[in-house]
Amino acid sequence: MNREKPKKFHVKSFGCQMNVYDGERMAEMLGEEGMTASGKEDADLVVLNTCHIREKAAEKVYSEIGRLKKKDGSKPMIAVAGCVAQAEGAEITRRTKAVDIVVGPQAYHKLPEMVAEARSGERPVDLDLPGLDKFGALPRKRKSAPSSFLTVQEGCDKFCTYCVVPYTRGAEISRPYAKLIDEAKALVDGGAKEITLLGQNVNAWASEDDKGNRVGLDGLIRTLDRIDGLKRIRYTTSHPNDMSEGLIAAHGDVEKLMPYLHLPVQAGSDRILKAMNRSHSRTSYLRILDRVRAARPDIALSGDFIVGFPGESDSDFEETLSLVEEVRYSQAFSFKYSPRPGTPAATMQDQVPMEVMDERLQRLQALLNRHQIEFNQATVGKRCELLLERKGKLDGQWIGKSPWLQSVHVLAPEAQIGDMLDVTISEAGPNSLKGEMLMKEAA
Ligand code: 5AD
Ligand code: SF4
Repeated sequence: MNREKPKKFHVKSFGCQMNVYDGERMAEMLGEEGMTASGKEDADLVVLNTCHIREKAAEKVYSEIGRLKKKDGSKPMIAVAGCVAQAEGAEITRRTKAVDIVVGPQAYHKLPEMVAEARSGERPVDLDLPGLDKFGALPRKRKSAPSSFLTVQEGCDKFCTYCVVPYTRGAEISRPYAKLIDEAKALVDGGAKEITLLGQNVNAWASEDDKGNRVGLDGLIRTLDRIDGLKRIRYTTSHPNDMSEGLIAAHGDVEKLMPYLHLPVQAGSDRILKAMNRSHSRTSYLRILDRVRAARPDIALSGDFIVGFPGESDSDFEETLSLVEEVRYSQAFSFKYSPRPGTPAATMQDQVPMEVMDERLQRLQALLNRHQIEFNQATVGKRCELLLERKGKLDGQWIGKSPWLQSVHVLAPEAQIGDMLDVTISEAGPNSLKGEMLMKEAA
């Protein structure tokens, strides 16, 4: 059997920003193969770039696969990529005939070959974790958005007991310094004003510079700071244990490094942090934040939380709430614990009942939301720059990001996507703010 070469493709990414980056790179690669991006119903090839971090992710993927049909009723070629692919592997092709290709997050650079194999009737599965191979094999040219992602590090060696990432993304690896500078320059040449450095443990990134000296993330940030045309640098997501003094200092003296830090803590009780194998305590985490705030007093802090980890008592949970009170995050992500097959926590005693998790999540989110509104309101009256990322609903309206990663609406009929605009924040809601454009002073 020989199927036609797909002409149109659709990549759908679920989950984290690293998946978004991977999805963009897959699209660039398929584009270089002569295919064009399209909507799901028109696509001859659909790539589901999946996430396995929580909930019944695999079940969601199977039901999505079942629904995939082209407008003419025929079935597109289907590739399952990402972390569900890595975790479920060939089981996916056994369970559903509809899937033609299964490709893990470290092997997607082979997608074009795999499409060719699928055309001749094979059902290729590639779950290699070869690390950095894929980056070398991807197109050098980048399509940049005003705010672009750059994966600098992948994988995780921390083995938090609830987490699948060390199994699906493999061991911690850092992409080489010189390659990253090249890719960053290519992004800026293509129009990027802001680059967000990505990694599961981005602050564990380490490499050697051109003289063979060891550089950490702070060194990389300081080099990127010197790229003309690049206006903003961000990084996500970080582990408290890899928050080096150098990186904290960079928050104080690198102007392009935005005042925002996502530093997950997961829980406020030392007993639970230990059971999670987080390898930091409540106090050591809070002391890091003190130092970061000393370096950059206006920094917006963000975090991740899990409620209902096995064995979490009411008083453990109260400690999470009190930590949140102490930190006052500008924004945070919180989840109910979800047992992941193959992780140590999944078989721990004292799994917490769903009703208890529901109630704890509601209380935690109510508190986090209150702090988020307070943070937003405290920026009213401040002057700042916005990076305009997309059009708003109204005529002449734009949505841009503040330095603190808030979405701000502004009327600026003359502006264009990618502009940096001076505004004063005039109103603040829980999820978005309004800004007034500042008139440029006459020259
Ligand atoms: N259950 C619930 N939340 C999880 N996370 C990771 N694994 C799990 C799990 N098994 C959350 C953590 C992490 C974020 C990306 O997802 O808070 O920081
Ligand atoms: Fe998962 Fe922990 Fe690694 Fe984060 S640090 S990816 S939560 S194992």
